[in-house]
Amino acid sequence: MSSADTSKLIAELDRLAAEFAGEIGKLATEEEIRLAQARYLGKKGKVSDLMKALGKLPPAERPAVGEAANRAKSGIERAVGERLSALAEASLSADLARVVDVTLPPRGAALGTLHPLTLVRREIEEIFLGLGFAVRTGPWVESEWNNFDALNTPPDHPARDMQDTFFVEGGRILRSHTSPVQIRTMLAGPPPIRIVAPGNVFRRDDDATHTPMFPQMEGLYVDKDVSFADLKGTLLHFVHRFFGPNLGIRLRPSYFPFTEPSAEVDAACYLCGGNGQVDGRSCRLCRGSGWIEIGGSGMVHPNVFRAVGYDPAAVTGFAFGMGLSRMAMLKYEVDDLRSFYEHDARFLAQFR
Ligand code: PHE
Repeated sequence: MSSADTSKLIAELDRLAAEFAGEIGKLATEEEIRLAQARYLGKKGKVSDLMKALGKLPPAERPAVGEAANRAKSGIERAVGERLSALAEASLSADLARVVDVTLPPRGAALGTLHPLTLVRREIEEIFLGLGFAVRTGPWVESEWNNFDALNTPPDHPARDMQDTFFVEGGRILRSHTSPVQIRTMLAGPPPIRIVAPGNVFRRDDDATHTPMFPQMEGLYVDKDVSFADLKGTLLHFVHRFFGPNLGIRLRPSYFPFTEPSAEVDAACYLCGGNGQVDGRSCRLCRGSGWIEIGGSGMVHPNVFRAVGYDPAAVTGFAFGMGLSRMAMLKYEVDDLRSFYEHDARFLAQFR
């Protein structure tokens, strides 16, 4: 090889560096730039290709070519560095050009709230836990025997009509009240028994004031010498804790198959204090009557004790039941039952 070849090689190296400088300006991403860099400086790149001829040159001419190769390499690397930092700067100034209003109020974490029916259930459980009652639950799908027969309501009993019932396959029903939890608890062990049984119950009702499923809370107290006065005192204590101190209760004779005697329970209206008037106008909560109905109650019927194997001559007891949606409506003055089941966050967020 001659010195003419040497100067051609040097010229070619310089040309490659210039060619690269022209190409890189069009590249817009780091990936494209790195790929182009590899096409020139990589193992099989254009510069390395030319350098294969180096060995064939007279030794005295090699240093000049080596120098040209280094010049080409560093020219290409400089061009890469410059182009990359130009890109980084462009993206930084694009970021800085975005307008952010730092005075906007933050959105805050959207924490959920407890459902009003849950709040009311917990509050009532607390009141009875304070009286030494335990909380017991049972299944929604029940035997007819637990739901009716054991509660002194045989199949031909007209009182079965009081609770229009859903039947499911296999001779079972959706429980129409939580009273079967009382049966289950008594079957499970001897008295004394002091429980409240919260839970959903089901009836074939569906209108403005009834939903086919609703939550209930029932209570049962069985021991020696439990009296009607104990029932009245317990209900009075409950009303004082739940609705307000100094409110009276009224027990109206009624009928339930599983209690005798039986009574509907009214509480004096907490809004008007029981006089039916607010600011000279008829009270909107009790509609002027001074009383609000809160549930049913009575002394456990001897046949219920017989069904669970308790001796009706040895023990007495009282039971009561109330609808939790009704208690929540009264407590929070909600006038449409459906609000509890529509999942409207604006409604639910009011309860904390
Ligand atoms: N189980 C009755 C009902 O759901 C409520 C009740 C319970 C009445 C206990 C009296 C005594 O209608």
